Amino acid sequence: MSSIPHLGMINHHPILVVNDKPCILLAGEVHNSSSSSLQYMEKVWEKAAELGMNCLLLPVSWELIEPEENRYDFSLVQGLIEQARSHQMKIVFLWFGAWKNAQCYYAPSWIKTDMKRFRRAEIQKGKGFVRIRDFYDMPYTSLSYLCKNTVEADARAFGRLMAFIRDMDEAEQTVVAVQIENETGVMGAVREHSDEADMLFASDVPEGFAEYMRASVKTMTPDMKKAVETGKAAGSWPEVFGREAEEVFSAYHIARYVNTVAEAGKNEYPLPFSVNCWLNKKGDPAGIYPSGGPISKMREVWRYCAPNIDLYAPDIYLPGFREICDEYTRRGEALYIPECPTHRYAAAREILSIGRYHAMCYSPFGFEDMGIPLNAAQLALFGGDAEDTTLQLPQDREIYAKINHLLNGMSGLLTGYYGTENLQAGSGETEETSGFRMGCTLIQANYLKPEGACLVLWENEQECWILAYETALTFMSDDPERPGLDFLCLEEGRFDNGAWLRGRRLNGDEAVGTAYTAPTLLQVKLFAYA
Ligand code: DGJ
Repeated sequence: MSSIPHLGMINHHPILVVNDKPCILLAGEVHNSSSSSLQYMEKVWEKAAELGMNCLLLPVSWELIEPEENRYDFSLVQGLIEQARSHQMKIVFLWFGAWKNAQCYYAPSWIKTDMKRFRRAEIQKGKGFVRIRDFYDMPYTSLSYLCKNTVEADARAFGRLMAFIRDMDEAEQTVVAVQIENETGVMGAVREHSDEADMLFASDVPEGFAEYMRASVKTMTPDMKKAVETGKAAGSWPEVFGREAEEVFSAYHIARYVNTVAEAGKNEYPLPFSVNCWLNKKGDPAGIYPSGGPISKMREVWRYCAPNIDLYAPDIYLPGFREICDEYTRRGEALYIPECPTHRYAAAREILSIGRYHAMCYSPFGFEDMGIPLNAAQLALFGGDAEDTTLQLPQDREIYAKINHLLNGMSGLLTGYYGTENLQAGSGETEETSGFRMGCTLIQANYLKPEGACLVLWENEQECWILAYETALTFMSDDPERPGLDFLCLEEGRFDNGAWLRGRRLNGDEAVGTAYTAPTLLQVKLFAYA
């Protein structure tokens, strides 16, 4: 039997290993409610297959697997695994336990209604329910991150889920990873305000944690670093963490909560576990985005408190896709995108994620609706950007499918070059032109549209594979001894089971006008001469 899905390294780069092979999740996350009905899911699997996806991210909600305390029902989970197998697809389950978008939408009714045993977060003193004025007046409630009964119940249910998955799936490995909770954090305030929370906040920061934070400033975001460096070495939370104290306090307790849940799961079946982040928009204070969630600013807190979490995954709906990818990879961690919009840049961003960031997972959210124009409310919810009109348009489904099929076919080749400079990519979202170099050979990509993108995989200085979409290519040699450059091979095609199936050989006129409006995979062999 092969080892269970786990994280490994290739060329010093983190990679997901499934059935003993490196794997890229060319995935899609379903809308929140889709996976609660097997019948509804039938057509969703078909859409995923048409789009060339190899994996779906599917919520499993606490309320459906434990409708009554200690009575479990895994028939839905079993059905989803069977459906995935019949479509030759993988699954990442999303554990919707105590948190879903910083609220407790998916907690079972026996948890929601017993507010004494399963306390609510006091956003204001004595108040477990508020309206968040600065966030569209949203009604808000959440379970308390300090409530022992809740974390014990959540962890027990999650442990049972992982035991079920192990028993059903360890041999076949359809389920390759699990996300713990969904967009954790507290909103409407930066921390909880119960008497217990106030008392803990005024007490000393645990010694080991304060020391760890001081020893970890090198990787911190500038604001976090500043707070730690100007704070005291020991003392209360405000004394040690200054203006960041409340958010760090929330992160500390939420990460420990999530770690307890994850530990119960790891004890049963230690798949890779991720947490996803509702990102902090520049300028927004904590509490407008979920405070204490696993954003980059809180990364060191989470690292200390949640050793059972393997992957930190940004849900990228904000503008500045590249900057966000840079931030979430700068510590040497894998890029794992569980959610991103299905708007017009979806395909280009997938090419960029894989070719430039060597991503482990790329997964548009609510992919079932890809191609359908979004209304204003959906645009706001799903990452539209009024300043970029391309982002108001939906992704063309056929284009996305073509690109996914091409990437899927070559994924064995791609992962072999993860972590190396041989695998490069650019896109028209932020630049008109990209240059890709290997030794003295230079390929210039001119993007024909903002949604154009180009991935280059260099086997060596003379041979490469190129995936181009809405891109014109120019090939150059800057070797002064051999300034001439000729094609020995320029052909289009695709990979099937690792074998190159060539289409047209593109000599003659096609080698002069190398502009590709449709997604095209090329094999290129060059010859430099004097
Ligand atoms: C982020 C959440 O994690 C998803 O469950 C979903 O609500 C999307 N936002 C909607 O944009």
